Amino acid sequence: MANTSLIRYRAYALLIVSLLLSVLPQYATARAVREPREDASNALASATRERIDLNPDWRFSRFTTNPDSLSYNTLKNWILPSANNFISGTKHERPSGTPPGNDVQYVKADFDDSAWEALNLPHDWAVKGPFNAPGISGGMGRLPSNGVGWYRKKVTLAKEDLEKTIYLDIDGAMSYSAVWLNGNLVGGWPYGYNSFRLDLTPYAKEGANQLAIRLDNAVDSSRWYPGAGIYRNVWLVKVNPVHVRQYGTYVTTPKVSAQSATVNLAVEVDNTGNASQQINVATEIHLADAATGRPTGQAVATFPAKSISIAKGATQSVNDSVAINNPQLWGPAPTQKPNLYVAVTTISIGNITVDTYETRFGVRSVTYDANKGLLVNGEPVYVQGTCNHHDLGSLGAAFNTRAAERQLQILGEMGTNALRTSHNPPAPEFLELADRLGFMVYDEIFDVWNTQKTKNDFHLIFADWHEPDLRSFIRRDRNHPSVIAWGIGNEIPEQSSAAGGATGKQLRDIVRSEDTRPVTAALNSASGTSVLAGVLDIEGLNYQGEGQGTSNSSAFPGFHSAQPNKMIWSSESSSAISTRGTYIFPVTSSNSATVGTGSGGNSTASQVSAYELYATSWGSSPDKVFTGQDRYDYVAGEFVWTGFDYIGEPTPYDSSRSSYFGIVDMAGFKKDRFYLYQSRWRADLPMAHILPHWTWPDRVGQVTPVHVFSSGDEAELFVNGKSAGRKKKAEYTYRFRWDDVKYEAGELHVVTYKAGKEWATDTKKTVGAAANLKITADRTDIAGDGYDLSFITVAVVDANGDVVPQAGNNVTFSITGPGKIVSTDNGNPADFTVFPSPSRKAFSGLVLSIVRADAGASGDIVVSAASPGLPNASITLHAG
Ligand SMILES: *[C@@H]1O[C@H](CO)[C@@H](O)[C@H](O)[C@H]1NC(C)=O
Ligand SMILES: *[C@@H]1O[C@H](CO)[C@@H](O)[C@H](O)[C@H]1NC(C)=O
Ligand SMILES: *[C@@H]1O[C@H](CO)[C@@H](O)[C@H](O)[C@H]1NC(C)=O
Ligand SMILES: *[C@@H]1O[C@H](CO)[C@@H](O)[C@H](O)[C@H]1NC(C)=O
Ligand SMILES: *[C@@H]1O[C@H](CO)[C@@H](O)[C@H](O)[C@H]1NC(C)=O
Ligand SMILES: *[C@@H]1O[C@H](CO)[C@@H](O)[C@H](O)[C@H]1NC(C)=O
Ligand SMILES: *[C@@H]1O[C@H](CO)[C@@H](O)[C@H](O)[C@H]1NC(C)=O
Repeated sequence: MANTSLIRYRAYALLIVSLLLSVLPQYATARAVREPREDASNALASATRERIDLNPDWRFSRFTTNPDSLSYNTLKNWILPSANNFISGTKHERPSGTPPGNDVQYVKADFDDSAWEALNLPHDWAVKGPFNAPGISGGMGRLPSNGVGWYRKKVTLAKEDLEKTIYLDIDGAMSYSAVWLNGNLVGGWPYGYNSFRLDLTPYAKEGANQLAIRLDNAVDSSRWYPGAGIYRNVWLVKVNPVHVRQYGTYVTTPKVSAQSATVNLAVEVDNTGNASQQINVATEIHLADAATGRPTGQAVATFPAKSISIAKGATQSVNDSVAINNPQLWGPAPTQKPNLYVAVTTISIGNITVDTYETRFGVRSVTYDANKGLLVNGEPVYVQGTCNHHDLGSLGAAFNTRAAERQLQILGEMGTNALRTSHNPPAPEFLELADRLGFMVYDEIFDVWNTQKTKNDFHLIFADWHEPDLRSFIRRDRNHPSVIAWGIGNEIPEQSSAAGGATGKQLRDIVRSEDTRPVTAALNSASGTSVLAGVLDIEGLNYQGEGQGTSNSSAFPGFHSAQPNKMIWSSESSSAISTRGTYIFPVTSSNSATVGTGSGGNSTASQVSAYELYATSWGSSPDKVFTGQDRYDYVAGEFVWTGFDYIGEPTPYDSSRSSYFGIVDMAGFKKDRFYLYQSRWRADLPMAHILPHWTWPDRVGQVTPVHVFSSGDEAELFVNGKSAGRKKKAEYTYRFRWDDVKYEAGELHVVTYKAGKEWATDTKKTVGAAANLKITADRTDIAGDGYDLSFITVAVVDANGDVVPQAGNNVTFSITGPGKIVSTDNGNPADFTVFPSPSRKAFSGLVLSIVRADAGASGDIVVSAASPGLPNASITLHAG
């Protein structure tokens, strides 16, 4: 992080912060972390458009039995019209008469909600626990995500506001949202992962307006942890009657070269007023400031103003194209730079500006080649991707931009250049981060179509909602240069049938009517000759490429010959599993093995060996996946399951709380696997990593294999100074292994070589007893905005300061100053201490605490860690 730009930005932020804090909370947040920024699909506040943070000050109550007799079925006919902007056929008509729920006490202004929980959004009602919630499976994470949740807030409107059009924008609420304003049902949106907008105007009044939102989560609604509640940002948008409509700009760059880029821009304008208007639409393009995302410098291109007339109640679009000379291209890190532009659109009536709207975009070309793979701006880029579910570990599903940014930074350090949003639309800020940090995104929407995976999943409403969900998703996300593919389905049960192929074609055609980027789906059983494979633009193979489980039989050749003109990638690969810092003996001699008792698994401890050779019954070690990729060089790359561990899906130990799939554990601590990927994905980075740890008092004289991950091609291991042999990496091998080393206390040292020259070294020592706590923070300067976080790690170390690898000391965090301990974690999937607990046992020597500065905080926050028998440790953070 560049300190100079930080200081500059801070000075600027201080000037505007008091003025804009309520209007631009995210922008205010940005000053310490240089993001999050405004969603590109929304303009900054100005005289013409206001976007107000509605996150603070809600009241909430959860009910485990239905408190109001409402259900999606009773509300459905009033909810469906909320989809009207996103369906091409007959629109839904709002029924006449009094809507259901208007008489429920919770929607009324005079209901006394003072006994309800007071909170700020984003909020996940389930994450605080406790675990083992009745009816919630291990797959769903054992947290109490089910039930009905009501949220209430009063929103004050001025008299002038009543001349405006007033929208409620909800970036994500889990699930089956229904919204009332002043006792009137406005509308809603069932799919918990999509963003949606409701028009509050007809129900708004001067003064206090009572907003009430009902959510409803069934048990058995998901295969993973869905979270619960209004878990993303919520905004109040006030515009003049003539305004750019929701997701109303669409930028494409059909021709890109180093000399020139063609930029097409379509602008859709709504006139919600009661008179027709003659309007001018003009747009200038500026470079985006790398730190703030705001337009900077002179316009680099200008769309000539267009005058159009727009009837009352109508939508009109303007569509034009300009050239940018010597464009600064957007491309993935590390070989390219993620440059961004901003199109600033102004709508005026006469000489009065009625709306200004900013659209951030990037100029890049992407080619999807059946033999060469992906080319970005002409450069071949191997897809080194990871998949992840949406939760942020111990923070749950409640979106936090800094927490997401930290994940992407850790993945970027490993060499990840692509992200799959498995299996649902991400938070808008996730794509902002990907744009800014230079990650490519495989943006995915559905895990099921018509056939269920769990009893209460999306299949129940697929018929009514697939079109509006898909269209709104594409329109929301299509200006992001990071998005390189649209995923319409994951491991769809009907993927091989004619019916599944027909549904796939229907979805593909909807996408094609909204955008030009390729459509893909993740196939775990369909073949290259299936109807669905014929429908897709990119063939996505889940596990079939490397061969599922112990099979070496690859589906790549079959797909390549059946679909010779289509690019193939592994939409999901590996499903290797492990527990950080846990090593189980004996170690398989194979390059990949299915986990089980005696094969990398420990069902007593519910842990999996971190020799990184073990996988699920359908999965493979990274080594085996790499072999498949190197055998079939037309494959464009992979999306590993998964980057981080996540809540739920604790295969193979269903009794646990969280997954074993992550390359990084749920606390954000790196497993050994991190270095195996880094050795391949950042082949130019000199790196060597020894495993396991070397503190085994109970294993003296026993065979304790030593493996090394390195970007070198040769390695020599020394055990207490004595060579255990120098080895070359053979074809289709990706690690160095000395499988017959007998443990003795002391030191392991490895020297690796590349092309005959010394390349990198690593050392692992036998450590002594726990003597101290070592406390560090990822950032000690955080914004006092109620959102920004510091991730604080405590390591249990010996007298020399080396981490004690099996330490499980109980650590208690405490805090003084204007901040809170939000949660703790240690990456142990079998730890059922609730996430908000300030006390937690270290696991494999480490424990994490996540600290948030209060809104308006300025000054020092001191975080201390204490553990019986060890001296306290503390660290000072600065908020403001
Ligand atoms: C813009 O106009 C061109 C030419 O009429 C048309 O082909 C294209 O589809 C339009 N694009 C949008 C996004 O409306
Ligand atoms: C338009 O609506 C405004 C506000 O409701 C009203 O004052 C005005 O008379 C209306 N104008 C027409 C032409 O209907
Ligand atoms: C806008 O136009 C009106 C009518 O032509 C004129 O009276 C007014 O001064 C103009 N305002 C500005 C700011 O140019
Ligand atoms: C798969 O290939 C690996 C080497 O790449 C080999 O060790 C293993 O025996 C093979 N498995 C089967 C089932 O053929
Ligand atoms: C499995 O875990 C239990 C409990 O932690 C431990 O006692 C045992 O030694 C472990 N077994 C293996 C094979 O690592
Ligand atoms: C850890 O310490 C806290 C605070 O003393 C205590 O409440 C908790 O029970 C301890 N946990 C364990 C697992 O010993
Ligand atoms: C260490 O921290 C604990 C918990 O905050 C506190 O009770 C204790 O007084 C501290 N000890 C010292 C020596 O500061």
